[in-house]
Parts: sequence; C-alpha cells; structure tokens
Amino acid sequence: MSWQAIGIFDSGVGGLTVLREIFRALPQEDTIYFGDTARVPYGTKSPETVARYAHEITSFLVRRDIKLLVVACNTASAVALNGLKRQFPIPVVGVIEPGARRAVEVSRSGRIGVIGTAATIKSSAYTRAIKRLNPGAEVLTRSCPLFVPLAEEGWTDNEVARLTARNYLLELKEAGVDTLVLGCTHYPLLKPVIAETMGSDVTLVDSAEETARTVAAILAKKDLLRPAAEKGNHHYFVSDIPAGFIRVGNRFLGGRLGDVYQVNLDNDGEEC
Ligand code: DGL
Repeated sequence: MSWQAIGIFDSGVGGLTVLREIFRALPQEDTIYFGDTARVPYGTKSPETVARYAHEITSFLVRRDIKLLVVACNTASAVALNGLKRQFPIPVVGVIEPGARRAVEVSRSGRIGVIGTAATIKSSAYTRAIKRLNPGAEVLTRSCPLFVPLAEEGWTDNEVARLTARNYLLELKEAGVDTLVLGCTHYPLLKPVIAETMGSDVTLVDSAEETARTVAAILAKKDLLRPAAEKGNHHYFVSDIPAGFIRVGNRFLGGRLGDVYQVNLDNDGEEC
C-alpha cells in the first residue's frame, strides 16, 4: 500500500477529463494535477518542445513524491512518453496505449479512425500502437484542431460545432471506419456532436476511461492502492494565473475544482 498521490499533467484544462475518470475509478486516491496553462496549446508545437515541457512538469511532480504519473495529454503522450519512462523511476501511464487497446477490442472490421491534434496525428503514435496490437488493422487519421477551442468555449452543441464536425469527419465516415478514437483530451466534450456526425454504427473510444482502468490495474498489481474506504484529496497547479483554468475547468471536470495554485517552473517549481 502507498499513501503517495497520483500525479497527472496536461497542457491545460483538457486532462481534467482524464482526472474525472480517475476520480470515478479510484475515489480513495490523492491526486496532484498540473495544467501548463502558460504554454498551451501543445498540439501545434514541435515534438522537441513538448518533450522539454513534459520533462520539466514531471520533475516538478516527482519532487512532490508521486507514486505514478499519468500523462493525460495525448500530444505529450505521443511525443514524450518513452523519454519520461526512461528518465523517471516511477510508473508512467500515457493515454495512447489504453485508447488503442480499447479500439482494437471494440472494432469488428479492423477499420479504425483516429482524430487528434496536428502533433498527435503527425507522430503516428496511435497508428503504431493499434498496429502493434492488430497488425492487420487499417488506421485512418485526421487532425481536428478546431475542436480544442470549441470545447474550451463551450460551443459543443451548436451549428458551428456541427459544421466543423461534418467538415473534419465525413471523410472518415465515408471511408467506413467502425470505430473512432477520440485522441485528444478535449474531444470527449464534443462526443454528442461527433456521435451524431459519425452515426450509430460507429463506436467512439474515449481514451480517458480506459486510461483510468489502466492506472487502477497498475496500482493494484504493484500493491500501491490506498484502502478503498479512504477519500482522496486533490491539488491543482497551473503555470499561468488560475482564473481561466478554474472557469473552464469546472466544466471539463464535471464538478468543482479545489484550490488552484500558480507555479513558476523556471524557478524550480516555486509557488507564486
Ligand atoms: N491536451 C492536448 C491533447 O490532448 C490538446 C490541447 C493542446 O493542443 O494542448 O492533445
């Protein structure tokens, strides 16, 4: 058993969709969330830059004595996960592998669509992960950058969202995918519009749910779970002023955030 917290980070608010699933799966666990709100978005940046940010944030969380790290950001998982696993002596869980596993499980035809940020799609990380599990799978991908601001603005159920979804997704629908991986932290908020566009024959895979299951399985296997009767405490850190994070974050988390503290990673993670 371990009383240490689970660390989790994202480029901003998006990872709260993953945190929400971790709360559901493991309500007894303490968590420390870091949102890199000063440097979001990651999805348009180079792999080298995102990997550097991911390393800085992980160092900050490891100094806070976490027992496991969740890289909730798809973009950071796509380009930085292997480096983090090599550099830090704790279990590191990304969102790509769990999402790929679930997609392979639910797809009947092996024709799988993946949507994500430009950086995630360019990395081909999902395609590699899916093909490792099912070499015969056919993976069709599409970056959908405008979904990120739409989700943050709360424009998830209006004409703009529907039009954007049709523009991005009709090609995948017409190509006959039977499964679509929502390969970005923000896309679960657009699930109804994406489902409406793709039709009821296409199964949507939310990496967040599967990632939470993976975290629970690893902690159980390593005997690091807190007793089930406990109730976890949750801490939030961001790299810009907290106001915007709190406003948008409550919606992403589907509940109320606790206190949010601003930290300066350049100053070795000193709290402001
Ligand atoms: N969190 C990012 C992801 O899941 C989306 C937002 C961004 O581009 O930073 O890829």
